[in-house]
Amino acid sequence: MISMKKHLILSQLTLCAGLAFAGFSVQAQDVKGSAQAGQGKVWLCIGCHAIPDYRADYPLVYKVPMIGGQNAAYIASSLAAYKKGERKHPTMRSIAGSLSDQDMADLGEYYAAQTASSPNNPLK
Ligand code: HEC
Repeated sequence: MISMKKHLILSQLTLCAGLAFAGFSVQAQDVKGSAQAGQGKVWLCIGCHAIPDYRADYPLVYKVPMIGGQNAAYIASSLAAYKKGERKHPTMRSIAGSLSDQDMADLGEYYAAQTASSPNNPLK
């Protein structure tokens, strides 16, 4: 009896993990980002992310991370996590909330294309 219960719980866990994974991979396959399209969208971001060592926000002060050169999929999935509320930062949440999956993919590609050797790129 105990082992049956265990088995049931295990299979439910596996199902959950499977569904979560399926959801993620569908999103990743459907949307292909374009760095060029992303360039037209970074005006939303450069006020904070373009400034080295910039600290922003209220009432808590955060160091704004440098995202130029970061992996495109990482950027897109971070933005999706803000939008979903899995990441809590209030400003990033409201910004990401206005982005579509396509916007996130484009912004990811755009920032991924910025290299460490272009530190003063005004759109970084
Ligand atoms: C008002 C300032 C501000 C603006 C505007 C802004 N960000 Fe952010 N962003 C931040 C701060 C501060 C953090 C760190 C938040 C945290 O600790 O979760 C952050 C975090 C991020 C992260 C996660 C980085 C990591 O290393 O995990 C990504 C990706 C990101 N921003 C992308 C963007 C994009 C794309 C835009 C434009 C659409 C944008 N941000 C606009 C301030 C800003």
